[in-house]
Amino acid sequence: MLLDLIARLDAAVQLGDTTAITQRVKHELEAAIQARAVMLPDRFRLARTEGYARRLLHRNDRLGYTAVVMTWAPGQRTPLHDHAGIWCVEGVVEGRMDVTQYDLVEESSGACRFEAKGCVHAAVGSAGCLIPPFEYHILANAIDRPSITLHVYGGEMTSCHVFEPLADGRYARCERALSYHD
Ligand SMILES: [Fe+2]
Repeated sequence: MLLDLIARLDAAVQLGDTTAITQRVKHELEAAIQARAVMLPDRFRLARTEGYARRLLHRNDRLGYTAVVMTWAPGQRTPLHDHAGIWCVEGVVEGRMDVTQYDLVEESSGACRFEAKGCVHAAVGSAGCLIPPFEYHILANAIDRPSITLHVYGGEMTSCHVFEPLADGRYARCERALSYHD
């Protein structure tokens, strides 16, 4: 049941310390997905042709967290991006995702140099944590069917930075507003 997961997330986000919170949220997400308890209403399953879909599942303003569902058609991916300094735990509900983590190693006059830390092939029931300042990655649907992911954020991410490749291998930092689809 989604209500049970939400009650568990409410408890997890009150643990105080970011590492403890994200570890507990990761555990709760993985357990709920593996128990097939994340039953999403149909509208969350619809992919969009323009890009991956991002829909609000749950927001608790008092406890300061949000849960967002993303639906990925084949071939859809994010650019390299950050998380606006907000912790995040991301779990795969359906399909399979490729997650490539990056470290920001240098930034001068708006140009950033990143080091790829390797790619994780994330299957159903696995979740990963991002704790700032380690918050840079690319997510990509890894299969030729839709994939669905569930993201829990320690706040509401209304904007983030995306990093666009430059000719010299560095990236330009660009602010991007984020919104929810339907
Ligand atoms: Fe992300």
